[in-house]
Amino acid sequence: MTVPAHVPPELVWDHSIDIFPARFDDPYVGGCGAIHAGPDIVWAAQGAYCGQPGWMLTRFAHVQEAHHNPAIFSAANNRDASNLLGFDLPLIPGESDPPQHRFYRQLLAPFFQPSAVAALETMIHATCDELIGRFADRGGCEFHGEFSSLFPSYIFLALMDLPREMLPQFLLWEHGFLRGATIEERIDAIMAIYGYFRERLDERRRAPGEDLITRIATGTVEGRPLTEAEQVGTCITLYIGGLDSVASGMGWYMRHLALDQDLQDRLRRDPALIPAAVDELSRAYGTNSNKRILTRDVDFHGVAMRAGDIVALPTFLCSRDPREFTDPHVINLDRKARSMTFGAGAHNCIGIHLAKRELRIVLAQFLSRFAPFRIADGEDAVWTTQTIWGVKKLPLSWS
Ligand code: HEM
Repeated sequence: MTVPAHVPPELVWDHSIDIFPARFDDPYVGGCGAIHAGPDIVWAAQGAYCGQPGWMLTRFAHVQEAHHNPAIFSAANNRDASNLLGFDLPLIPGESDPPQHRFYRQLLAPFFQPSAVAALETMIHATCDELIGRFADRGGCEFHGEFSSLFPSYIFLALMDLPREMLPQFLLWEHGFLRGATIEERIDAIMAIYGYFRERLDERRRAPGEDLITRIATGTVEGRPLTEAEQVGTCITLYIGGLDSVASGMGWYMRHLALDQDLQDRLRRDPALIPAAVDELSRAYGTNSNKRILTRDVDFHGVAMRAGDIVALPTFLCSRDPREFTDPHVINLDRKARSMTFGAGAHNCIGIHLAKRELRIVLAQFLSRFAPFRIADGEDAVWTTQTIWGVKKLPLSWS
């Protein structure tokens, strides 16, 4: 792979961030640790983001700074879906910059503000109970297949008023778009998602409901309706956040608890600590990497970068940055630390209140209903570090 002439050889990291951390027993301890032993800023020659070469910022403080400087680190030209589709489909609000970005956020905010999320409490509890009820008598479960791949998705589907029967197909499309092995697989997946949401938006325009898709289909930004591309792009952004991110985080937190009986004991004895545990586990288990494109040449902390360069902002590296956190790999409920897991600046995660409420309910239910759980004998967790870091198999047992 050719490295651009402006990249100094000592900053070339000849790996892919999708593959390198998977070599280690624990991608957070081993993978992030190995990267943090190197330069603060590297050129990931085999892939900084979804296989695309570019700069990768490894430090919490630098990632934070880039998030807060959209004039230079632009989200507007991310364009992954547009490039794959061959026409303009901005994934809104993610692929928009201020000032327009604010109007898109205002459109969605009523569904995600704390009071709206609080009103979902009963539905979230019922969904959690329904799923747990399917394996409660069995003394164990495969947490990913039987719980985490379904729970946040069911809640998202309820918000969007989409049928649960479509979930297996949604998960396949989502996997194809985010992690497809070939460009063709990624194109097929995004085309299918695009076509599906066009139809649903059309239905909601003709027969509006109370759901989030109706809000996108009939709402306005700056006094005008969204274009069809803006509407579909918004649905797809929510689809990715709603289906994958919570499930990914939850898998890591449950794996951590399964390996840390002391922490389970402490939380069972004092459930009031569960919100602090969700905050600290989310601090330590960032799952996403965010992509930005430089709008102009810039000297960033001594590194000369060029307009058009890709810059990856990996939240999982922020999670374990030893310059930001003392003992970054230790879960310390008293830490009350800053976190980059939900992003920062204008694009910080709109789903944060929903995600944290879901995570608190799940931890509380598993800890109160089940005896101490651990990874089942002779089994192991299986994870991926491709695009969004997630646990794909977690066999748990309790007795
Ligand atoms: C543990 C769960 C979650 C994590 C770790 C997470 C992480 C993130 C991160 C890091 C960003 C910033 C992206 C960037 O700066 O480019 C983001 C943005 C976003 N998230 Fe989440 N997310 C989670 C859950 C959710 C949920 C449940 C939803 C909705 C159902 C959601 C919807 C969004 C949307 C729409 C954006 C774009 C916001 C904007 O650009 O203004 N997320 N998320």
